[in-house]
Amino acid sequence: MAERTLIIIKPDGIQRHLAGEIIGRLEKKGFKLVAAKLIQLSKDLVRQFYLVHEGQAFFEGLVKFTCSSPVLVTVWEAEGIIDTVRKMIGATFGYDAEPGSIRGDFSCSKKHNLIHGSDSSKSAEYEIKLFFKPDEIIDYKLADRGWLYGKND
Ligand code: RTP
Ligand code: MG
Repeated sequence: MAERTLIIIKPDGIQRHLAGEIIGRLEKKGFKLVAAKLIQLSKDLVRQFYLVHEGQAFFEGLVKFTCSSPVLVTVWEAEGIIDTVRKMIGATFGYDAEPGSIRGDFSCSKKHNLIHGSDSSKSAEYEIKLFFKPDEIIDYKLADRGWLYGKND
């Protein structure tokens, strides 16, 4: 199975009507969407999601922001997707992010940085399980897959 990653369009992405723009970039890259849902996150779930940051000065503000509006939680699949998506997202703070990246093009903020992408296969596995049951992740074939992938060709 190809690698999977968890991508969240954060509250500012929904409020700023940028979900379509961001999803469109991922689709046009050729990634395969295998799960999606719009949800209002609880503080408990966000605390679990950002567990590695617990105790940091910014933690409570991050939890509050992440619960401030619905978010679009998605799972995508492709060879090497975790690292490629992190490059497409750009640096953590919008004002540092490279032009051409999602944060670089649409964010100037520390907290309001629009999108989350898993940072490793271990994180992806942990994060996907927090939001999706196995039967909510759809197994299907992309018609154009033969034109898209081939990291080892
Ligand atoms: P994310 O997990 O949200 O996708 O962002 P990331 O991997 O680029 O950055 P990470 O280090 O995981 O940080 C999670 C979120 O915490 C906020 N943050 N604030 N020094 C600070 O004030 C600080 N450091 C991190 C950011 O909003 C970041 O998205
Ligand atoms: Mg992170």
